[in-house]
Parts: sequence; structure tokens; C-alpha cells
Amino acid sequence: MEDKIKICVVLGSIREGRFGERPAKWIADELKNWEGIEVELVDLKDYPMPFFDSPTSPSMMGKKYQNEMVQKWSAKVDGADAFIIVSPEYNHGYSSVLKNALDWLSPEWSKKAVGFVSYGSASGARAIEQLREVAIELNLVPIRKSVHIPWDFIMKTWSNKDISNAELFTPLRKSMGPDHLADFVNDLVWTAKALKEARKKGQ
Ligand SMILES: Cc1cc2nc3c(=O)[nH]c(=O)nc-3n(C[C@H](O)[C@H](O)[C@H](O)COP(=O)(O)O)c2cc1C
Repeated sequence: MEDKIKICVVLGSIREGRFGERPAKWIADELKNWEGIEVELVDLKDYPMPFFDSPTSPSMMGKKYQNEMVQKWSAKVDGADAFIIVSPEYNHGYSSVLKNALDWLSPEWSKKAVGFVSYGSASGARAIEQLREVAIELNLVPIRKSVHIPWDFIMKTWSNKDISNAELFTPLRKSMGPDHLADFVNDLVWTAKALKEARKKGQ
């Protein structure tokens, strides 16, 4: 039987009343129905790590960390084949909690696929472009497609807290082609499978 591709949907905003919880939950719920995928919503709120202060680079530490929370984070990332990173855009960049979580690890990210989701006045485009550069340095493999959520979706949530995630986001699936979410996930899974096979062969 073919191994399932394990995808972590990483929620990169930890602030009170965050919008990010909406798209992260929506995508994780959608992925639960996808064949061949095992999905987990990973909330950085559950991984309160110190600001990166390691005397040694994580690329030289062989996954051996002193801090218990970093050990827990390392195990979570290590067990995944691919990531969907959901990030807010703060001051034209991605969130600092996300950068900290990325910097704490190194080999755990290596040769794995990543796709990005963001939102904001420029649909999170600036945050995602910055994330791509950092991902490449971590030896992650970013896919071309991403999910960009326009500002009016955030506003709809503020003005109507009762709106369900499906009501809010289903129109987005059609807004960038026949089914943008499916295209995004299929590309991520394709890349994740190819990388998993290659990792198994030790390539
Ligand atoms: C400190 C801060 C900086 C922000 N900077 C930007 C920005 O540069 N571009 C943008 O589109 N939205 C910006 N916003 C608005 C956010 O997109 C909006 O608050 C969004 O809800 C943040 O995501 P979160 O609620 O998941 O944390 C900023 C918000 C905050 C709190």
C-alpha cells in the first residue's frame, strides 16, 4: 500500500483574535477529504519557543536541541512530508513567530515540499515572496502556486463573526481558475511524493 503524504498546515499567527485561524482550519478541513493525504493543523501557539539564541547553528546540531519545546517542534516537523504555511502579512513581511520557528530547525525541513497561504491588502503576496527565499535556504522546495486571500475576506469575517469558513472561502476556490485550491494541493502532493521517493532512495 502506498504511504500517505503527511502534510502539516502551519498556522503562523498567534495573536488574540487572529484571522489566520480561519484559512488554516478551512484548508486542513478540506484536506481531510483528500485521498492519500494525512493532514494536521499545527498551531505555533502550541509551540512557544524562545527567541532563537542557540550558540550553534541548527544545521550542525544533528536534531539535538536542549530546549524541550524546540525538541517537540523538531519531532513534529521531522514527521511531515510537506507543509502548508499560513502566514499573515505584518509590515510587508511574514510574522516573526514564523521566522523564529523556521530558524530553530534545519535538517527537519530539508528536501520537503512547501506551499504558502497568506492574506491582506495585497493578498499576502509580499509575505509569501519573502517566505519563498527563506524556504530555499532551508532546502525546502516551494511550489509555484500559492493561495492569496484578498482583504475583503478579512473584512467579511470582522463584520460577520458567524460566517462559516466554507461560506467565506468556497468562492475563493473558483476565483483563480476552475478550482485553485485543488490545483495548489495537487501540485504540493506531486512534489511531496517525488521528494519522498528520492529521500527514501537516499538521494
Ligand atoms: C503589526 C501589523 C502590521 C500589519 N501590516 C500589514 C501589511 O503590511 N500588509 C497587509 O496587507 N496587512 C497588514 N496588516 C493587517 C493584517 O493583514 C491583518 O491585521 C490580519 O488580520 C493579520 O493576520 P492575523 O489576524 O492572522 O494575525 C498588519 C497588521 C498588524 C497587526
